[in-house]
Amino acid sequence: MVQELTRPTSLRRGAAPDTAFAFLDGEFLPVRDAKVSVLSHAFNYGTGVFEGIRAYWNAQDEQLYALHLKEHYLRLHRSCRIMRIGLPYTADDLVGITLELLRKCNYREDAYIRPIAYKSSPVIGVRLHDLEDSFTVFAVPFGTYIDIDRGISCSVSSWRRTDDNAIPARSKITGAYVNAALAKTEAQEAGFDEAIVLTQDGHVSEGNPDLHSQDRRGQRHPDRDTPG
Ligand SMILES: Cc1ncc(COP(=O)(O)O)c(C=O)c1O
Repeated sequence: MVQELTRPTSLRRGAAPDTAFAFLDGEFLPVRDAKVSVLSHAFNYGTGVFEGIRAYWNAQDEQLYALHLKEHYLRLHRSCRIMRIGLPYTADDLVGITLELLRKCNYREDAYIRPIAYKSSPVIGVRLHDLEDSFTVFAVPFGTYIDIDRGISCSVSSWRRTDDNAIPARSKITGAYVNAALAKTEAQEAGFDEAIVLTQDGHVSEGNPDLHSQDRRGQRHPDRDTPG
């Protein structure tokens, strides 16, 4: 994929340039003004659900193409149902909001779109009920997650995958990603690129950048072998 870089090379990988926008609670804001409170429930307890959506810059077409936007938003809705998060937009609404966001950000390189629906009440108290919900989406410039021009080295993590009956993997829950973060850092500190994580009973479960993926009927989806 040919990429045109429009951002300063000093921008940290995964960070948004100052010119970026975010959509937060119904309005588009410069990303630097899109703030959440330290009291937010999701900040304290990881009570959010999210998606990671790739968008690829095509230099010939001078166009950014986002991958399976509607399917990702349908999955976000399923995640919300499990976490009892009210999302006041249909999947089609969310596709429209995201396209508008990408137009405003005006990236001319590959990007990563991050919608999050979350428990936003500024209160302490571990629960899912009796809380307000919010929605935000932003996008950052983002190339390949791992170097796909060479093989990668993987360790088998000493951390085991969180059981589905502890935190359901069917819902893409922000707080659950601590499990992947522990595995990734352990692997990299030991000199590997990535971690392979096993289930509690020792079967291969996943790799951090989604080394394998399945749809809900158990079929492999090579075109979805991208993060998110
Ligand atoms: C950059 C990046 N890569 C990979 C992943 C893993 O995604 P998944 O758990 O859907 O495979 C994430 C998490 O969403 C991510 O943020």
